[in-house]
Amino acid sequence: MRMSSPRFQPSSPIHGTGRRKSQFTYRQLSLLASYSTSSPLRVIAHVDLDAFYAQAEMVRLGIAEDQPLAVQQWQGLIAVNYPARSFGIGRHCTVTDAKKLCPKLIAQHVATWKEGDEKWAYHDDAASHIGTHKVSLDPYRLQSRKILALIKESLPPNLQKVEKASIDEVFLDLSAHIHSILLQRFPELTNPPPYDDPTEKLPLPPITALDWQADALIDLEDAELEADDPDWDDVVILIGSEIVRDIRAHIRRALGYTCSAGIAGNKMLSKLGSGYKKPNQQTVIRNRAVQHFLSGMKFTKIRNLGGKLGDQVVSSFNTETIKDLLPVPVEQMKLKLGDDTGVWLYNTIRGIDPSEVNSRTQIKSMLSAKSFRPSINNQEQGIKWLRIFAADIFSRLVEEGVLENRRRPKTINLHHRGQGGQTRSRQSSIPQGRTLDEATIFELAKNLFSQIIQEARVWPCANLSLSVGGFEDGVTGNLGIGAFLLKGDEARESRGTSREASVGSSTHERPEKKRRVDNPGIQRFFPRKGSSSGGDVEESLDDDVVDTVNPRIRTKEASPNRTGNGPKPIMDNYIKVCTRCDARLDDAEALQNHLDWHFAKDLQDEERGKRTFANSHSTVSRGQKTATASSSSSKKPTRASASNSKLEHGQSKLKFG
Ligand code: CTP
Ligand code: CA
Ligand code: CA
Repeated sequence: MRMSSPRFQPSSPIHGTGRRKSQFTYRQLSLLASYSTSSPLRVIAHVDLDAFYAQAEMVRLGIAEDQPLAVQQWQGLIAVNYPARSFGIGRHCTVTDAKKLCPKLIAQHVATWKEGDEKWAYHDDAASHIGTHKVSLDPYRLQSRKILALIKESLPPNLQKVEKASIDEVFLDLSAHIHSILLQRFPELTNPPPYDDPTEKLPLPPITALDWQADALIDLEDAELEADDPDWDDVVILIGSEIVRDIRAHIRRALGYTCSAGIAGNKMLSKLGSGYKKPNQQTVIRNRAVQHFLSGMKFTKIRNLGGKLGDQVVSSFNTETIKDLLPVPVEQMKLKLGDDTGVWLYNTIRGIDPSEVNSRTQIKSMLSAKSFRPSINNQEQGIKWLRIFAADIFSRLVEEGVLENRRRPKTINLHHRGQGGQTRSRQSSIPQGRTLDEATIFELAKNLFSQIIQEARVWPCANLSLSVGGFEDGVTGNLGIGAFLLKGDEARESRGTSREASVGSSTHERPEKKRRVDNPGIQRFFPRKGSSSGGDVEESLDDDVVDTVNPRIRTKEASPNRTGNGPKPIMDNYIKVCTRCDARLDDAEALQNHLDWHFAKDLQDEERGKRTFANSHSTVSRGQKTATASSSSSKKPTRASASNSKLEHGQSKLKFG
């Protein structure tokens, strides 16, 4: 079956010699320079680090590449390098099981904050101290920032669009960069179009063979298509793959990490591409290969189709495969799923995804949290944790430029969860005007804590979390409102901050109202942040909430009869999946924080009168009222795999940004 979209037609339909033309126009070529999502020539890459936390530990410890290594959190594994995977070890294994499979496995525990300590550290005995330690992902955030900085450095400053999508992945819109390379390599393209008519077709590229080097090239359904001469869409994607190959080599050389990448015409396809062959490979999905690439695939692998929406599609059409969905008329999809979602699905399974790469990478809030097992019972115990949270958040604020007054949070929120799941929270503003320090954060947190514990029934306490939000830019430069509306890199340049200092959390946030929406109608299915972009909320454990590729496989619980002499193997060994957006989280605490984030976001969206996922799609029941919230509700995860009664809780209002 051939698709109607011009993007996916074979690139030069007319055979034989003679003056053949490209299927692309002068106008479509020029659109490339402005990252236009309507250019059929756009090139997007997705780069994802291989077994990221595991590589981070290998680099840190100088471990040989072929040495099996896994990253341990309490008794579970949260990252497994490829040598260890060849023994059948995966994230679902416990340390004990993994060592049985491979006795020479190195299981490196994540860094932790120890109660009373000033800073996180790698503690040899962390695994047996779940009660007094708290996981820190700081070392990985730091590496993530370095990698992001390197990627940005590898691209021309004024021709890059980089979206940090999670702690270990980015989307790159290479369109404008490729456009400039293309004009250099093929100067004939700079000629004005015949009759000055931009709708005129371009000449065909003056080449017949493209060198894909070691790229994994997605095959074509029909070998005949391969015989067609390359058109400009093939050439641009080839240039894209050269750029990505260089970036990957640069990361490897400078920092020692391998990563995999997908290069395609949009975000969805590029993400599928990066996961197609791992580790250390890049996959190119040419337009002419899209149909074949997708038709053999389950649609549940596609971003946003892994979860609830995917389930709904499966039950509506009785299939999991794209192939079976292709003959379904758009009208029927609209009927079953609603107009917007129906159209979105219809396009998506045809490889059409007009969503933009967003260069915003700024954090909007930070959260530090701990679940207590067993619960804690008095104020002193709580205060010890508040001290750690304050130190944790402060050290991250320093990275964010709080000392230089580059950015600072406006609000602080303390969140308390009782043993029965009921929650309380208090919020206050952070005094402005002087440099924020750790002691101030700690004092504010204690203050909020004493307000909360004045209420009845706060003990035992099962979870505490401290967050800061409402980040504002400091007044270091003379920023007019105009600069506020500039996009990331422009804004940074206009502020004159150095690249080094602004890496990782660099760009200038546009006000919420200005935010672009990729797929406006179906937003309710895709909570904006936390699922598809790691930029906004930086939680102590949720940086990695993106990858929705095959979430089902990873929802497996750890073997229930696991032994191990550490503390009671609680929920930490279970990979958790958010029932709302399919984000994968490494433990119940991270999941809880993530759900809290959704809830706060819903409230915020509700305030703006938006229709959100929560109020349209999940079972919402009224929960306990809290002091700061005008309304609060408890969420019922409806997906069986992640359903857990402990997670139902009332929730009070958090203000982010
Ligand atoms: N991560 C986690 N818990 C999860 C999912 C991811 O802690 N439920 C962490 C992993 O430790 C990982 C990082 O987030 O290193 C990135 O996750 P992902 O890209 O999904 O997996 P990788 O471990 O990088 O492996 P792959 O090579 O398959 O990308
Ligand atoms: Ca990865
Ligand atoms: Ca990833």
